[in-house]
Amino acid sequence: MSYLFGVDYYPEHWPRERWAVDAKMMREMGISIVRMAEFSWAKWEPREGEFHFEDLDEAIDVLAREGIRCILGTPSAAPPAWIIRRNPEIQPVDSTGRRLSFGGRHHDCQSNAVYRAHIRRFVTAFAQHYAKNPNVVGWQVDNELGNSHDDLCFCPSCEAAFRTWLKNKYGTVGELNRRWGTAFWSQDYASFDEVEAPKATVCGHNPSHQLDWRRFCSDLVLDFHKMQADILRAAAPDMFITHNEMGFSDKVDYRRLGQQLDFASHDQYPGGHFLADQSGRHIDWDAAPLDFIRSTMQRPYWIMEQQSAITGWEILGRTPQPGRLALWAMQSIAHGADTVIFFRWRSCVMGTEQYWHGILPHSGVPGRYYQEIAAFMREQGPMLAKIQGAMPKNDVAILFSYDQNYAMRIQPHHLDLRYTDHLMTYYSALMRAHVPVDFVGEEQDWSRYRVLIAPLQFLMTPELAAKLHAYAQNGGTLVLDMRCGVKDGDNIAISDDELPCRVRDLCGLTVTEYDCLRDIDVDIVWDGERYVGRMWADLIAPDAAETLAVYGSEFYAGTPAITRSAYGEGCAYYIGTQMSPALADRFVRELIGRAGLVPLAEADADVEVVSREKDGVRWLFAMNHTGEAKTAKTAAGDIALGPWGFEVIETKI
Ligand code: GLA
Ligand code: ZN
Repeated sequence: MSYLFGVDYYPEHWPRERWAVDAKMMREMGISIVRMAEFSWAKWEPREGEFHFEDLDEAIDVLAREGIRCILGTPSAAPPAWIIRRNPEIQPVDSTGRRLSFGGRHHDCQSNAVYRAHIRRFVTAFAQHYAKNPNVVGWQVDNELGNSHDDLCFCPSCEAAFRTWLKNKYGTVGELNRRWGTAFWSQDYASFDEVEAPKATVCGHNPSHQLDWRRFCSDLVLDFHKMQADILRAAAPDMFITHNEMGFSDKVDYRRLGQQLDFASHDQYPGGHFLADQSGRHIDWDAAPLDFIRSTMQRPYWIMEQQSAITGWEILGRTPQPGRLALWAMQSIAHGADTVIFFRWRSCVMGTEQYWHGILPHSGVPGRYYQEIAAFMREQGPMLAKIQGAMPKNDVAILFSYDQNYAMRIQPHHLDLRYTDHLMTYYSALMRAHVPVDFVGEEQDWSRYRVLIAPLQFLMTPELAAKLHAYAQNGGTLVLDMRCGVKDGDNIAISDDELPCRVRDLCGLTVTEYDCLRDIDVDIVWDGERYVGRMWADLIAPDAAETLAVYGSEFYAGTPAITRSAYGEGCAYYIGTQMSPALADRFVRELIGRAGLVPLAEADADVEVVSREKDGVRWLFAMNHTGEAKTAKTAAGDIALGPWGFEVIETKI
């Protein structure tokens, strides 16, 4: 059975007499699946071991009568007050040692053994109760794992788990001392028991220690998920397990989480949760997380929460203009969604999220959002049914690395330099040129991509260096840039080579000096045209590399800024700075010209064009993220697009 559209539903927020009305309206609208239960532990287990699933059973039955099936979330993102009162030690502790309180959500420590025992008891009962219910088809463990936990948890239990993790990794404390470089500032440890979580210090921190902490935190979330997933799988082997992920959020490595899932899901709130800017200018930031989530398991994903109205908690975003909700849902499908579940069915009358609106307003009376989403489901359902399983065949991949991201977060160099922003300079330019991309990880297979863009390869392990060499050797076009080959995998600067360490031969150059561009930009000159570089300038001494662009200001004016070097059957570009949008556009033109990339369309930058294919059929999605009419010229002909409009063109390949 396949599902096209769904909603997130909270029957426990509404009188039971309303449930049948909701279910009927959902069915009439085209909804066949709902996600429920992920925040209602207190209702299902009001006292320890006393389970009351009667209400949830009834809600599931009411929905089933309309042919609607359910995904159930385990409620571990919101432990009830009675658990917190009995075991206050499960409340998480931030890096300053402050214990956080009950009253919101995510007030849990994921390593705490007592909390895990509570979860095991609940999830076992929950799984056994629903394992044989034919109307429950899948599970979601917890909710948005990692959300709110950025500065959590530094409690004694997490610290002990960190020490165990370190022992497993290093074996002896002497090895840890060596790899962390504890000779600096007298940080040598005599035993693992002396090692703490990297809590707030008076001044500074050891970057190697911090990097391991972030890796440990990701592993802890994976372990927390696995404990629940194992219970669910054992009780209900035929049900699927998915997780509602958050795009580039980095608390947990989603590629590794994917190894525990049947498929990935993602929560999609265009405009970055709160739509402050109603223009389509953020389309790149809306699209990239979709491409990223698709790449984590290299298969289509579900949207577990698709924006369905105004978003807001204490402060509200703007109202989506007519056509916008449908366009956003189409964008999710265009990038690889097989099923779209809208958040939420009806705006909630109580609690923190009273203004995170649903398809229905507080009154329950269908309005514009309902009409628009219902029409979308009706009109696009047949297309979505056919396309399920289809994937894009993209020629360009961007390497997204959790480790590089962590390392750059620990030492951003420049106050405004962020790993994901930097990756987005490439993504956005390719999107403006209508060249769609995949993301890949270090461990994935890169060989099918014509172009691999590997920004900020700050940590250069011998394995990564070998893989980058092999990629170019075998004919790939590789793009490397600033802060490449600076450190080893332990976050210690490499000292037996010059920059970019371990890939100098590949790039055909040496970086002899660098300049962190605090408060200034640098001019870049390419074919007589002037552009701008930001954040950083590598001073480059080329040997085999040809110079494409030079710096146009500062004492290094006239020296290379962007180079290209043949290597094996392929080549490596090196970019010594962060490119401004115009410069990135120029660079993408270079790639299109020399790497043989074929844009999917000729169209304005705010018209998005991507594709998915399967079984000899290709669907071309053209989406107009503006309020004016536009045209996209494509191989399948000219596509006329109304304001906030889209078209899907099906062709044989
Ligand atoms: C997230 C959560 C939901 C809800 C929405 C709106 O995506 O998963 O539970 O809180 O945000 O805030
Ligand atoms: Zn903890």
